Amino acid sequence: MTENQDKLWGGRFTQPTNSVVEQFSSSVAFDRRLYRQDIAGSIAHARMLHKVGILTKTEFDAIADGLELILSQIESDKFDWAIELEDVHMNIEQRLTDHIGEAGKKLHTGRSRNDQVATDLRLYVRDVTDSIVSELCMFQNTLLNLAESEANTVLPGFTHLQVAQPVTFGHHLMAWFEMLDRDRQRFLDSRKRVNQSPLGAAALAGTNFPIDREMTASELGFEGVLSNSIDAVSDRDFAMETASIAAITMVHLSRIGEELVIWASTGYQFITISDSYATGSSIMPQKKNPDIAELVRGKSARTAGNLQALLMLMKAQPLAYNRDNQEDKEALFDTLDTVSASIKIMHGMIQNIQPDRARMKAAATEGFATATDLADYLVLRKVSFRDAHEIVGKIVRHCLEKNCNFEMLSLAELKQYHPSIEEDIYEVLVPESSVNSKNHIGGTAPQQVLEAVRMGRKRLGETTPI
Ligand code: ARG
Repeated sequence: MTENQDKLWGGRFTQPTNSVVEQFSSSVAFDRRLYRQDIAGSIAHARMLHKVGILTKTEFDAIADGLELILSQIESDKFDWAIELEDVHMNIEQRLTDHIGEAGKKLHTGRSRNDQVATDLRLYVRDVTDSIVSELCMFQNTLLNLAESEANTVLPGFTHLQVAQPVTFGHHLMAWFEMLDRDRQRFLDSRKRVNQSPLGAAALAGTNFPIDREMTASELGFEGVLSNSIDAVSDRDFAMETASIAAITMVHLSRIGEELVIWASTGYQFITISDSYATGSSIMPQKKNPDIAELVRGKSARTAGNLQALLMLMKAQPLAYNRDNQEDKEALFDTLDTVSASIKIMHGMIQNIQPDRARMKAAATEGFATATDLADYLVLRKVSFRDAHEIVGKIVRHCLEKNCNFEMLSLAELKQYHPSIEEDIYEVLVPESSVNSKNHIGGTAPQQVLEAVRMGRKRLGETTPI
């Protein structure tokens, strides 16, 4: 039990806090990671209090120096975090007063932990958003380089995981690039809404002091101040939005992971995953498993769960601040940690894969991947698409009965299905001609892949991280 008279809010209490309650309500174990933002926020607030005449220069200097000292103590692991001081905010404020005395007790003038925690969390999310955006940029850059060098590599594209049509490996890599590019754009866009200052909203109603909210906002790098004090302390939509973008990103990484798993499997062998990104089996000596891709796929589950937790956390809270909000942090931090680590690990793994171009190409010549090209050939010879589809279907059946490919059929055999089929059909049936023919924006032709890479580089360059 801690005497409540020792607590920063102890005045109206006569009985000490139950120690189980203290454990239950303390957040310092997880919110201490906000210490940098908390200290920056307090220094900005104190500077503003001095500017408007509430703190003297001496008081401000003592506060700023004291907080800098605490920052260095925390960073060198010399700060004793106390759970009975509840959270990061009160731990730091109490320690400041221990160090500098009376001036420390004036820091909280015109402020509440409600606007303080919202400020800290927004600054934290903004900073992590920036680092995620820059990690995504680097990953995307690697995809552009790979797509460029694999622009001519042919492999089967799949629908329903059945061979569909030949595509270029570069084109497939550029599909990943596009998925991640939208994630990056979403992070950049939400950043604008995250980066608004709640500071000055105080508990919920604002404050009686002549504060300058624009001054603190600008010192902290916020783009503006939140216009309504009740909203400023109560909403966590910026957390829900960021967790949602991160969950979408994780779903993308999970799908990429799944493709790596399939491509590296014994049945496919389209790629080899580097030894440095794979693991072995404790019993089967021959195994090299794509565990890292699987782990990313698995971790997407927790980010979806964290998003759900945040949505449910908020849905029934009346305005303004409620202690429920303390529960936003672990879910959000876990999501941010997970997505940051997963982007880096996927990037490294993909940078180090080895494509087996010969196997990719061989697979593109199986499964009648050029059946649609054959149908299109007939359409160019005035057959309607529906009839062409039917004719090619019959040719496929014929091949299945004979256990052969289209190319193995003689011209005479093919002509039985339609007289307009000529010798030039054999060129149409090779996967390279199939991909070369898809030569329009967004198509799989090598020329289009190179163009997409060029445009992608331009897009990345235009929105480099802040
Ligand atoms: N640790 C609290 C949180 O994370 C800080 C705000 C506490 N405010 C209060 N009125 N009890 O939300």
